[in-house]
Amino acid sequence: MVSKSPVWFLLASALTAGLLLQLTSVRAATTPLQDPDTEDTEEHEETPMEKQMERVEDAMRSLRRSVRKPESRADSLAHVQECQEGLLLAKELEPMMLARIPEAEKATFKRDFRLGMVEALETYLELERALLEERDDDAKDLYKKAAGLEDPAHEIFTEDG
Ligand code: HEM
Repeated sequence: MVSKSPVWFLLASALTAGLLLQLTSVRAATTPLQDPDTEDTEEHEETPMEKQMERVEDAMRSLRRSVRKPESRADSLAHVQECQEGLLLAKELEPMMLARIPEAEKATFKRDFRLGMVEALETYLELERALLEERDDDAKDLYKKAAGLEDPAHEIFTEDG
């Protein structure tokens, strides 16, 4: 009989082994790497700063589309207001990373963080002025400037950059 042939048995074993190997590598690719020496992969509760930052991020996403359309200026102004409010509330909070900064450097770190927030807020105020004065090209450039502040600030003030 065909099913009792050693050839079929070998073929079935090879297929099963291949399938298991593939499943293992898919699992390895989708499981987050855990570094036993650090606790960086542990989930933490959202900080008040993250809450405000996410508010800014959501408003920026909408602004990215509306700022291209002069007819959506009123929407853009509402999104800009939202960004300003989020940044204003974040400005007085302490970044999580402060806890890991040596005591002697804390004051400078806090001052630099606040200056970074001031720069972001100033940019959103300029953007607001451009929208109110119907300078739509300036508004687009200022949106880009504001968006460009995010990564360099996170490099300095967050642990995972
Ligand atoms: C301008 C656009 C910005 C956007 C859209 C933005 C967005 C975000 C988001 C979404 C998070 C949460 C990260 C996460 O969940 O992994 C975050 C965290 C953070 N951002 Fe921003 N950010 C911006 C600008 C800034 C600026 C200018 C600073 C500092 C001057 C800053 C400092 C931080 C810090 C310190 C955290 C970590 C939160 C904590 O320590 O509790 N961000 N940001």
